[in-house]
Amino acid sequence: MSLVLDHVCVTLSFIVLLFLTCFFTSSNGTPLQNSFKVFRINLESERELDILKSLYENAHDYSLDFWKPPTKAGTFSDLMVPWKMTSNITALLTTNNITYNVIISDVSQLMREEEISIKRKNYSFGTELGSFFRRFNDESSKNKAKYNFEEYGSYTQMTDWMKNIQIHYPSFTKVFQIGKTHDGRFIEGIKIGNAINDTKKRAVWIDGGIHAREWAAMHTALYFINELVSNYGSDPTISKYVDSINFYIVPCLNPDGYEFSFSATDNPMQYETGSNSNPCSYNYQGRKPFSEPESSALRDMLLSPELKGKTDAYITMHTYAQFWMYPWGNRPDSYTEDFAELKTVAEEAAEALKSSYGTKYKTGTGADLLYSASGASGDWAKDTAKVKYAYVLELRPASALNGFILNKNELLPTAKETWVGVKVVIDAVLRLNGLQQKVT
Ligand SMILES: *[C@@H]1O[C@H](CO)[C@@H](O)[C@H](O)[C@H]1NC(C)=O
Ligand SMILES: *[C@@H]1O[C@H](CO)[C@@H](O)[C@H](O)[C@H]1NC(C)=O
Ligand SMILES: *[C@@H]1O[C@H](CO)[C@@H](O)[C@H](O)[C@H]1NC(C)=O
Ligand SMILES: *[C@@H]1O[C@H](CO)[C@@H](O)[C@H](O)[C@H]1NC(C)=O
Ligand SMILES: [Zn+2]
Repeated sequence: MSLVLDHVCVTLSFIVLLFLTCFFTSSNGTPLQNSFKVFRINLESERELDILKSLYENAHDYSLDFWKPPTKAGTFSDLMVPWKMTSNITALLTTNNITYNVIISDVSQLMREEEISIKRKNYSFGTELGSFFRRFNDESSKNKAKYNFEEYGSYTQMTDWMKNIQIHYPSFTKVFQIGKTHDGRFIEGIKIGNAINDTKKRAVWIDGGIHAREWAAMHTALYFINELVSNYGSDPTISKYVDSINFYIVPCLNPDGYEFSFSATDNPMQYETGSNSNPCSYNYQGRKPFSEPESSALRDMLLSPELKGKTDAYITMHTYAQFWMYPWGNRPDSYTEDFAELKTVAEEAAEALKSSYGTKYKTGTGADLLYSASGASGDWAKDTAKVKYAYVLELRPASALNGFILNKNELLPTAKETWVGVKVVIDAVLRLNGLQQKVT
């Protein structure tokens, strides 16, 4: 952040702080334990943007959680607010003539109803979600390693499944560990490539779940694993992929945060664990890029002899926005030398993705689309690990009402359409290595 912005930031922080602590003296709201609302706040001018940015910088102090940080005038920001702060926030917005709507009136309630409707300690779903997962399970029955898609898997269930895949398909799959988390969990992924011990092949890296609450990203990564494993040997496209390329897929980069967010229906603030909602966080990740064991494990793996100089695509999945982003993510108006190629493949991927269900993605650099450092690992992969096609995806929804809590009916379509887009990138990797002609 520039000095000028820093100055504005400090001044405004002060004003907002004063406002929050002094303005209101009484509250008549009914205290609903652990009740949270989500406000969608319209940022109609630079002034409004600045007010929200300063609030963003102090978010932690007031237990505010920005689901969608304020980035640009003309866009909106989504803010989760605990019940005890709702009157303060409403007053702040009203006084400053900032328009908003409450898009979720009770987050816990919605979580119970939707994607995260897990009964405590039992993790069983309502019948509707159950039947959805049954459909998914039936479709993937070619995979001998069965995953109970009727339940939202714990981290252990995910890693057990990957180990089970390895047992059934040792010739082209292998579980790997990139390191240990803060709490001592192994961060595990699966390598898929035939022959499994051939380390000379070009590589494609895919990860999800670096931000713990972005469950749809993890789900989508698991879906990719299933697609590659269950269709190898029967689908010529998949067989070509697995024969030509080594895939490294880590569905959940932040298992500590994920396991913690699993119990989040009682306290949605837990849901945010693992994401950086720290002060001045536009460049927070940039200042301390590998301060967490999870991200340093990722760095070490991509720079290991097995992958260094061989990885042609790095795809990291987040939610939500429907963006297909390429570098540079944290430097506005800054582009890579091969920008045109990255852009073309991104646009083709977005077009292919759209063909599945009509879902529209925006493509561009993270800086163009967001003005934030959300593309940090993508930038790093491009800049330091020298990966050609480095993409940061923000999956569904674009701005649908629920934000992180993806409607259960959208989970499988999200995974499917994203896979269609990712296949475009895999095709580009094959062409890059002279392994496939461009089909026009
Ligand atoms: C929010 O408002 C209440 C009264 O409505 C007040 O007691 C409280 O101090 C305010 N909280 C903050 C953090 O400013
Ligand atoms: C408040 O916002 C409305 C709509 O954006 C605008 O027309 C009006 O001039 C604003 N008033 C003030 C006092 O800023
Ligand atoms: C857990 O869910 C199953 C149905 O999937 C049900 O039969 C069982 O009684 C539940 N157990 C508890 C402790 O709620
Ligand atoms: C790959 O190499 C490992 C270690 O050398 C060996 O145990 C394993 O059997 C090999 N797998 C195949 C499919 O050749
Ligand atoms: Zn994220």
